[in-house]
This record gives sequence, C-alpha cells and structure tokens, in this order.
Amino acid sequence: MKITDKDVKAAIQSIGQAADITVLEELRLKYLGRKGEITQALRAIGTLPVSRRAKAGAAANRARAQIETALAQRVRQLKKQQTETEARRPLDLTAPGGGRTLGHLHPLKELQKQLIQAFWQIGFQVADGPEIESDWYNFEALNIPPGHPSRDMQDTFYLENGAIPRTHTSSVQIRYMEIHKPPIRIISTGNVYRNEDEDASHLWAFQQIEGLVVDKGVSLADLKGTLLYMFRSVLGEQTKIKLLPSFFPYVEPALEVHVSCVVCGSRDPSCRTCGGTGWVEMAGAGLVHPQVLRNVGIDPAVYSGFAFGAGIDRIAAVRYQVPDIRYFWRPDLRFLEQF
Ligand code: FA5
Repeated sequence: MKITDKDVKAAIQSIGQAADITVLEELRLKYLGRKGEITQALRAIGTLPVSRRAKAGAAANRARAQIETALAQRVRQLKKQQTETEARRPLDLTAPGGGRTLGHLHPLKELQKQLIQAFWQIGFQVADGPEIESDWYNFEALNIPPGHPSRDMQDTFYLENGAIPRTHTSSVQIRYMEIHKPPIRIISTGNVYRNEDEDASHLWAFQQIEGLVVDKGVSLADLKGTLLYMFRSVLGEQTKIKLLPSFFPYVEPALEVHVSCVVCGSRDPSCRTCGGTGWVEMAGAGLVHPQVLRNVGIDPAVYSGFAFGAGIDRIAAVRYQVPDIRYFWRPDLRFLEQF
C-alpha cells in the first residue's frame, strides 16, 4: 500500500478539524493503529523490490512523523480550548457542594493502633527500635551465633555494609533490656523484612508485634493469658488459641501459636483463610532463654520472662476476612475504601 502526499495532506486536514479527543483517537487508530494505513504501508515495504525499499521507507516514515506532529498539535489545541471554556463558565454560587470523601487509617494501621491500645490498658509500655539492625541485635544477642542453623529459618537480606533490615521485632527485646531493668512489660510494633517469595500468607516486608515481660515469677500461664487477651481484643471473645512445641533459640520452651479461625468458626473444610484446618499460625512465643537474660545483664536466677512475636498482616487477614495478605500492601483504593 502506497501513501501519497495527497493522502498525508488529507489526513492532516481531518486531524486539524477533529472536534474532540474521541474523534482524534479514532483518527490515530485509522493511521497509526496496528491495522492503520501508515502501519500497513510500513509493513508492506519488506515485500517491495530491494531497489524501491529505501525510497518507499523514507516516504512512509516521513508521513508517520507528519501525522504524529499533527495529532500532538491538535491535542494541545483541544486542551487549551477546554481550559478556556471552563474559565469562561460563570460561577454558580447556588450550586450544591460536591461531597468530600474523607480518608481513614489504613486497615493495618488501624489494627496496630487497637493492639497498642489493648496493651496500654493492661500496663504495657510501647518500645521502638530501628529497622536496620546489626547482627548482634537481630541474631547474636538472641542466642543465634554465626552459622547457627536457625538463621536459615528466616531468609535474611544483607546490606553492603553487613547491616540487616531486621527479620523480626525480637531485636527490640535486646535494645530495651540493655537499658531497662525488670520489671519490664513492653510491646513493639513495626516492619520486618525477609528474603521470601510472596504468596497469600507470606510477604517479603510485613509487620510484627513483639511482646516482652520480665519480672520475678513470670510463667507460661502468664504468656498464655496475655496471648489470649491480645487475640480476643482484636478478633473477638470467641477466639481460642492452641500452643504447639517449636524452636526459637531465644526462648525455652519455644511455642508456635495457632489461633482458631474466626472466619469459618473452624467449621468449613473449604475455608480459604485457614485452609480448612480450623487454625491459623499467627505467632511464635516462649519463656525468655536464661542466656538472653545474661547477655543483657539480667540475672536469670532472680528473674524470668516471656516473649512473643505475632504477624499483624495475618491477624488483619482473619479479622477483615481477606484471603490474601498481599492486598493490604497494594495502593488500590477499591480495596482500601471497603474498611
Ligand atoms: C519470629 O519472627 C519470632 N521472632 C517470634 C518470636 C518472638 C518467637 C519472641 C519467640 C519469642 P516467625 O518467623 O514464626 O517467628 O514469625 C512470627 C509471625 O510472623 C508468624 O507466626 C506469622 O504470623 C508472621 N510471619 C512470618 N513470616 C511471615 C511472612 N513472610 N509474611 C507475613 N507474615 C509472616
């Protein structure tokens, strides 16, 4: 297909007369779309005898450039016209106001706030720690020396200077105990990072809430009561918990905390939240290991403690009945406006 100068002139003329953006888009497709006239002409060049290709190619490319310029020019003109028309429209002071939509806290922030409030009510302080940590706070002081197999449980990102985007909020336990001595009752919330593949219940950046209590005579019963209090505060009074043996070098005994699925009432074998098991793993916990207390200068013969670390995104998934925690991190207002 050959494009003549006359064709180009006609195209530029119709572009110049296009009444609005919709008509302009139709013209763009007519000439430059996948099946447009210029596109077809450029495609047909390969079928021409070699001696004619260079000339035909140059002509088709020139035509394309001219049409693109005309389109861009007309878009600018139409936008200018629109702005001028809007500026000329008289101001109607009697027109009803166009309602404003109010923003609200992100569901994860809202949950974090409620968790903090629940712990304030029973006398816990809120502690904070940096997101970029040293090996000492993230691992060693927690009884996880270099080469310890449990380092593999949390795939770690390393920065060039050897620092670590913290893999858990347990690092705050050490920072707090280095400065404060018992009695200690704290929680800490924040982002943690792991070099993990994402799926419906795993993210590479997520949020945890850490709890730490150190005092005389702290027992496993205190830990269980506190966990039950925490989960019931945000998931409802009917929530149950189940403690299973686990392994974290900084607590002994170490426990995995499973929470009854409040979405299906632990009754639906096809429930997407609990996978039909009736339980969702939400936290690790245990009694603070004597060596960890020694590392921060607290005498384990006098004091004992408990600690836990729960996933805020996972609690949110159950609380808001969201089957995939990745939704919480997407900037999609259609999802966020539902809360
Ligand atoms: C820990 O991070 C321990 N530091 C918890 C702990 C604290 C144990 C104090 C003992 C004493 P774990 O890797 O299991 O443990 O993570 C704790 C919780 O974080 C999990 O139960 C889960 O709710 C959440 N979590 C873990 N990995 C992910 C992930 N990739 N995406 C989203 N949530 C996660």
